Amino acid sequence: MIALEAVSKTYQHGDVPVCALDGIDLEIHEGEFVAIMGPSGSGKSTLLHILGLLDSDYRGRYRLKGRETSNLGLDALAPVRNREVGFVFQAFHLLPNLSILENAALPALYARDREEEACFEAARHRLAQVGLENRLDHRPSQLSIGQCQRAGIARALVNDPSLLLADEPTGALDSKTVQEILGILEELYEQGRTVVLVTHDAEVAKSARRIVHVRDGRCENGRAQ
Ligand SMILES: Nc1ncnc2c1ncn2[C@@H]1O[C@H](COP(=O)(O)OP(=O)(O)OP(=O)(O)O)[C@@H](O)[C@H]1O
Ligand SMILES: [Mg+2]
Repeated sequence: MIALEAVSKTYQHGDVPVCALDGIDLEIHEGEFVAIMGPSGSGKSTLLHILGLLDSDYRGRYRLKGRETSNLGLDALAPVRNREVGFVFQAFHLLPNLSILENAALPALYARDREEEACFEAARHRLAQVGLENRLDHRPSQLSIGQCQRAGIARALVNDPSLLLADEPTGALDSKTVQEILGILEELYEQGRTVVLVTHDAEVAKSARRIVHVRDGRCENGRAQ
């Protein structure tokens, strides 16, 4: 599903180059549930953004479902990303002036390959899947933080991606809500979706079936078994 070879990324911070990834080799098979762990600043988010086709400015090779993507620019990546990848953020990134239903429908509306009503129907279906069927008209500010993250997951699923990426999805949540969100991710994995989760929390990482450690922009155990 995912094959990274010698992926390196350097940010330019003013005149100072900052090496974020330093030759990452990583393999993830279809249907795996993988946690990426590592200290702050080790390159986890940078890596997840590349996996999610949100960043094309790096060196090395990235094959997603057998297709070479490292030679494509962001414009060419956008339709692939829309179809194949769902992204869940720590801070949800829900738009405050839209209802939960509208928020969840957005990636489907952006994809422009379905009628508007079909996009909203898909969003309703995904919101029901995360237990928010009674909150469709609510604004994000009217939801609990756990419900906001459920809505974030519904939005990530609306285009039925095969790959779900989550950057510290439980970082802002209390321990009871953490378990609820992990339960949802676990369910998605059991239904056959590939789930990749970044976390600081060893307890959270335990819900994954494999843990990949990133340190100083390098990956110690990126080969799949
Ligand atoms: N936009 C940027 N410009 C310059 N440097 C950056 C930028 N984004 C990240 N970096 C640097 O790249 C390195 C890796 O950052 P990254 O955000 O990937 O780490 P992380 O493992 O996700 O950290 P955290 O656990 O704190 O979220 C860090 O040294 C960081 O300072
Ligand atoms: Mg990060």
